[in-house]
Amino acid sequence: MCGIVGFTGAQAAAPILLEGLKKLEYRGYDSAGIAVMDNSVISVNKVTGRIANLCEKTDDGKAVPGNTGIGHTRWATHGAPTSENAHPHLSNDGKFAVVHNGIIENYMSLREELIKEGYHFDSETDTEVIVHLIEKYYKGSVRDALIKTTNRLRGSYAIGVICNDNPGTIYAAREASPLIIGVGTDENYFASDVTALVSHTRNVIYLEDGEFAKITSEKIQVFDCLGKEIDKSVVRVMWDIRAAEKGGYEHFMMKEIKEQPAAVKATIAPRIKDGKVIFDELDISTDKLKSINKILITACGSAYYAGCAGKYALEKLCNIPVSLELASELRYSEPIIDEHTLLIVISQSGETADTIAAMKECKEKGATVIAIVNVVGSTVAKLADYAVYTWAGPEIAVATTKGYTTQVTVLYLLSIFFGDKLGLIKENYEEYVKCVQSLPRFIQQAIDMNPAIPTLAEKYHESKALFFIGRNTDYATSLEGALKMKEISYLHSEAYAAGELKHGTIALIEEHQPVIALCCNSKIMEKTLSNIVEVKARGAEVLALTFRNNEKIVSVADDLMFIPEIDPIFSGVIEIVPLQLLAYYVAKENGCDIDKPKNLAKSVTVE
Ligand code: BG6
Repeated sequence: MCGIVGFTGAQAAAPILLEGLKKLEYRGYDSAGIAVMDNSVISVNKVTGRIANLCEKTDDGKAVPGNTGIGHTRWATHGAPTSENAHPHLSNDGKFAVVHNGIIENYMSLREELIKEGYHFDSETDTEVIVHLIEKYYKGSVRDALIKTTNRLRGSYAIGVICNDNPGTIYAAREASPLIIGVGTDENYFASDVTALVSHTRNVIYLEDGEFAKITSEKIQVFDCLGKEIDKSVVRVMWDIRAAEKGGYEHFMMKEIKEQPAAVKATIAPRIKDGKVIFDELDISTDKLKSINKILITACGSAYYAGCAGKYALEKLCNIPVSLELASELRYSEPIIDEHTLLIVISQSGETADTIAAMKECKEKGATVIAIVNVVGSTVAKLADYAVYTWAGPEIAVATTKGYTTQVTVLYLLSIFFGDKLGLIKENYEEYVKCVQSLPRFIQQAIDMNPAIPTLAEKYHESKALFFIGRNTDYATSLEGALKMKEISYLHSEAYAAGELKHGTIALIEEHQPVIALCCNSKIMEKTLSNIVEVKARGAEVLALTFRNNEKIVSVADDLMFIPEIDPIFSGVIEIVPLQLLAYYVAKENGCDIDKPKNLAKSVTVE
C-alpha cells in the first residue's frame, strides 16, 4: 500500500516524479521521498507527511537537478512514518537508491546477516535490506545483482532502483505488488498504477510477478528471473485523463458517488445484448455450473460487504448455497473447498494481500475462481480462472463508492447469467434483466430524492455512536453504510441485523441515540417497523431509509431518506447511495479529510 514511480528521459526528473507521486498518494501518504541522479551524483530528498511537504522542500522539484530518478509515497508498515524510514533508501556506498512497495517477510534474518557482514542500517524498514543486498551482490551488472537480491527475498515487492554507475537508467522488479512501465517518446517511466502515468503516456507494459526491467530513455528491456530477455506487449490505456482528476468536485468521493449511474451503466452495457445477459469472459459450461454445490465469496472491507449484498440474488436465482468469508479469515481457516466450489473473489484494486492469499489457498484446493475486479491487469485478475471487470474507471477516494456498487452489479448480472444457464429463471428472466438495466436510472433518482441529507448530517454529525439496522439486503447494506460512516467521519457506527438488536445491543439505546433503519423490502417491512418502535420506546431517534409511499414507516420515523422502489433482490446498489451521501456530509461537518481518511489506504497490499 505504497506508491512508487520512476522516470528517465531528457526532462528534469524531479517535477515529473512529484507529479506522479501526487496521483499515487491515495496508496499511502504518511511520508515520501525522491532520489534523482544528475550524471553520477544521486541526491535524495525525504519528508514525513504529504507530497506537498516534499514539493515545498524541493521547490516543486526545481531545486533537484538530474533527469533520472525514482520516488515513493509511503503507508508505514515496518517503522513509524519518519523521514529516516521514508524511501528511497541508499546503499552504504551511496551507489544505489531503492524504493519499494510490498512487504519483505524475511527481512529480520536478512538484516542480521547484513549487519554481521558490516552493513549499517539507517532505518527500521524491511525495505532497507534490499538496497544492501544489491550492494552486496553488485559485480558490475545491476540487473544480475537485482535478480540475486530478489532470490533472497520472501514476500511481496515492486522495486525501483537507480545506480550511479548507470546514469540514465532505472531498474524495476515485481513480485505480488503492482508495477507498470510507461512507454513514452524518448522518455520512459514506471509506476505502481496507471493513474501516475496516464498524463504522460497511454502506452504501458504490465510487469508480471518474477519479472525485471532495465529502462533507459530509448530502450525498455524486460527479463525473467533467470535474466533471459522476454518480449512484452504494449497495452493502450483507454482511461480518460479527466477521470483521474477531480472534475470540479470538492472531493474525489463526491465525484465518484455522482459517477455511479455512469459507472454502473459501464458495468452493465457490455453484458446485456438484445435483452440477454452475456459474459464473453466466462466460458463456464452448464455441466461445470451444475457440478457446483457451493459458492464461496471472499474479499475485504467494502468488497466483502458487496458480496453480502449480492448473496441474496445469487441464492435466489441460482439455487446454490452462497457463503461469505473474510479473506483475512479464510486464508487461515482451512476451508472445506474442492472442485465443486465456485470461489468469487471481489477486489477493487486487485492487489489486497489478504484477498490474494485467500484466493491462492482456494485455487490450490481445486476451486474454480471468478474475480470481480476494477483494475485491469491486477494480481487478482491475473490469478483468477476468469476475471470479470467492473469497468468503474479509476477510483481515487480511499473509501470506495462506485467500486462497491459496480461490484454488486456484477453479482446481480452473474446471478441472472447463471440462473439462466441452469434453466431456473425462465419465468422472471425478462423482469430481472429490466431491473438490472434500470439500476443506473434508479441510482440517479436515489441521489436526486435526498436533498435534505446535508441537513440530516448537521443534526447527526456529533453523535457519539450510530446504529444501522436492516434485514436481508437491507442488513448487508447496513454493514457497508456503517463502514462508510466510520471510514470517513470517524463516528463510531455499528450495523446490526434488525432482529438481532433486541438480543443485547438494545441495552446501549438511550435518549436521542440515532438509529438508521433501512426499510427497503416491503415483504419484511413489518418486522423492521416493530424494531423501529422498540428502539423509539427507549428514546432512540430513527432516521429511516425507505420508499416515498411507505406510510407506516414515514409516520413513525423522526427523519427520512428515500429510494425508488425496486425488487429487493436488486436493491443493494440503490439503497447504499443515500448512506454514502450521509457519511460524506457528516464527514464534511466534522472537517475530516474525506478522500484520505487517517490511518487508511486505498489498497492494503500487505497482511
Ligand atoms: C480497504 C479499503 O483498505 O481495502 C476499502 O479502504 C476496500 O475501501 C478494502 O474495500 C478492500 O480493497 P479491494 O481493493 O480489495 O477492494
